[in-house]
Amino acid sequence: MVRFRRLRRDGRIRSLVRETRLHPGDFVYPLFVIEGEGIENPVESMPGVFQYSIDRLPGILEQVKEAGIGGILLFGIPAHKDPQGSQAYAQDGITQRAVGFIREKYPEIYVIADVCLCEYTSHGHCGMVCGEEILNDETLPLLAKMAVSLAEAGADMIAPSDMMDGRVGAIRKALDEAGYIQTPIMAYSAKFASAYYGPFRDAAHSAPGFGDRKSYQMDPANGKEALREIRADQEEGADLVMVKPALAYLDVLKEAVLRYDMPMAVYNVSGEYAMVKAAAANGWIDERRIVMENLTAMKRAGAKIIISYHALDAAGWCREEENPVS
Ligand code: PBG
Ligand code: ZN
Repeated sequence: MVRFRRLRRDGRIRSLVRETRLHPGDFVYPLFVIEGEGIENPVESMPGVFQYSIDRLPGILEQVKEAGIGGILLFGIPAHKDPQGSQAYAQDGITQRAVGFIREKYPEIYVIADVCLCEYTSHGHCGMVCGEEILNDETLPLLAKMAVSLAEAGADMIAPSDMMDGRVGAIRKALDEAGYIQTPIMAYSAKFASAYYGPFRDAAHSAPGFGDRKSYQMDPANGKEALREIRADQEEGADLVMVKPALAYLDVLKEAVLRYDMPMAVYNVSGEYAMVKAAAANGWIDERRIVMENLTAMKRAGAKIIISYHALDAAGWCREEENPVS
């Protein structure tokens, strides 16, 4: 008889045959930076997540450093919004200043800058708007300008999340022309029009003012189309590609991992985080075990980079679990 249980008898042997192990360096921690001073606003729908003004960043950045996390993903919340999202590409914009601050004070932290207009536009859409339509080609130069301004501010990596067609190519070209040939692009390639982004839109003040994002983000029903999106971004010059959200789309991630050779990232989004935190707060689930199981599943499916609001907690738990007898 094949006795699988021989290799499950105790923690020592389970550890020896374990196929997937999480490491703090796998994680990227998203951070929300807001205009103002002395601000550390809790995000109600995301317990444990805050909006920080730049002067309050050191507390959380020390924790990131201490935890050995692979990087941070920055989202800025400007004081003023307009139809063109001009604060997104202003050299003294909130995100540019935050990147500059971190670059100077925490040069060892890897800074990924999200590129999208929705936090900066008065209508809350990810691109320029004409009537009810979200314009594609007119948006590309603004995204490219934003990417260059963030690279100039000192961002290590650029992560476009807008889902306009052709944006990776436009951003790559602009970065290269500005001399940032070594700045990688992590494209949110398979980004689905998901209800799981709800809490993020509270955190980043980025809910669309009319309509929804279904004319640019992907239909959750489409797996093959996700592979085409990934291929297109790869051809346009993306260095890494992302699948987002994570848990409901691990099939897409796995297929992409089997098909393409480039490193894949996955975004464990705000709604996924909120559900776990809410159930844990009610005592209905064991938060630590659920989080580690979810994150392990993402890595098992092939993610090299896991972007998660659980990153700080999970980094601590990974280290405890290095004790082989667990
Ligand atoms: C903005 C953006 C969103 C997220 C990352 N960048 C929201 C959206 O597209 O509406 C979602 C992240 C999360 O839910 O944690 N383009
Ligand atoms: Zn957006």
